[in-house]
Amino acid sequence: MSQLFSPLTIKDITLRNRIGVAPMCQYQAVDGVAQAWHMAQLGSKAVGGAGLVMVEATAVLPEGRITPGCMGLWNETQVNALKPITAFIKSQGAVPGVQLAHSGRKGSSALPWLGGQQLTDTDGGWNTYGPTDKAFDDDGTRLWKAPKQMQKDDIDTVQNAFVAAAKRALEAGYELLEIHCAHGYLLHSFLSPLVNTRTDSYGGSLKNRARMLLETTEKVRAVWPQGLPFAMRLSMTDWVEGGLTVEDNIQVARWLKVLGVDLVDCSSGGATPASRGSINGGIAQQVGMAADVRQGSGLMSMAVGEITQAQQAEGIIADGQADIVLLARAMLHDPYWPTHAAKDLGVEMTQVMPPLHQLFIGR
Ligand SMILES: Cc1cc2nc3c(=O)[nH]c(=O)nc-3n(C[C@H](O)[C@H](O)[C@H](O)COP(=O)(O)O)c2cc1C
Repeated sequence: MSQLFSPLTIKDITLRNRIGVAPMCQYQAVDGVAQAWHMAQLGSKAVGGAGLVMVEATAVLPEGRITPGCMGLWNETQVNALKPITAFIKSQGAVPGVQLAHSGRKGSSALPWLGGQQLTDTDGGWNTYGPTDKAFDDDGTRLWKAPKQMQKDDIDTVQNAFVAAAKRALEAGYELLEIHCAHGYLLHSFLSPLVNTRTDSYGGSLKNRARMLLETTEKVRAVWPQGLPFAMRLSMTDWVEGGLTVEDNIQVARWLKVLGVDLVDCSSGGATPASRGSINGGIAQQVGMAADVRQGSGLMSMAVGEITQAQQAEGIIADGQADIVLLARAMLHDPYWPTHAAKDLGVEMTQVMPPLHQLFIGR
């Protein structure tokens, strides 16, 4: 019997299988509002058989977007545009999840296919925020701007925005909430010693660097229903000497568990230009890190990174390395990946097919 296609119950929610769509920025939102593109992209993956459909990094404030095309949840127009999308995902038997995010000092960037460079104010950019005023790339080659070093009132503003966005996420129909603490964006930039050199209670020891994340998590967990799953995406390693290690992240996961987090989504890298990872070299090792954090913290884990084959995904679940596999690029390539994986594994494809497909192409 396939473990990949076995259901998973987390709190009050049951996923039909262990296959999730990883959060993927689409850069197609207008003023943070979802468009027909999002319905097509996300809807096709629910039709394709995924158990969990995670929506891209969704900014809690306008300046928390990575690019002008990023999704947001800071107003009701955004909520209303998401409602039909989450309803459609659910109607196809999948669980809609959202990744709440703040881009920090890596925000205000151009769309990737227009170069991804940071936008100046005259190009439609905005001021960015960070634990310190050090730019992402301070050697001047890419001309990243210096962020504002966040003061206590800036920290309160961001934490309150996460709380407000979580309430809106619930109203929009999401059933799983993930906080983005990876890839060098705001919360990860507080956690990483490569970026955070503050000398107040938000800097220094791991516990102090984790303060921004832990306070935010505690406040969001208080408004996100206890019966709904709460996940955290961590950069499990900074890949750089002196940066965050897997052991550091296991400790962070233990703290998060006490606050009511259910799952760790194990990514890596992105804190500095030297800190590879995210979608580049070495990310296949993230699967082992998902196993380590699962073992070391007792939390469920999600593995992500170069998972492309059905047998590979089956092995990750069957070996107990992770509870869910997340796929990003493989799902862009083939939204029907779960259906095809079922066929490869000898699982009844109709299990993940809508009735029309069952009838005409299910055999
Ligand atoms: C187009 C694209 C957009 C992405 N956007 C996000 C995002 O919004 N949030 C995030 O945490 N990771 C993002 N990622 C990273 C993926 O979630 C995933 O961790 C990474 O691509 C590795 O998985 P893969 O090898 O299956 O592609 C993105 C990746 C791609 C390819």
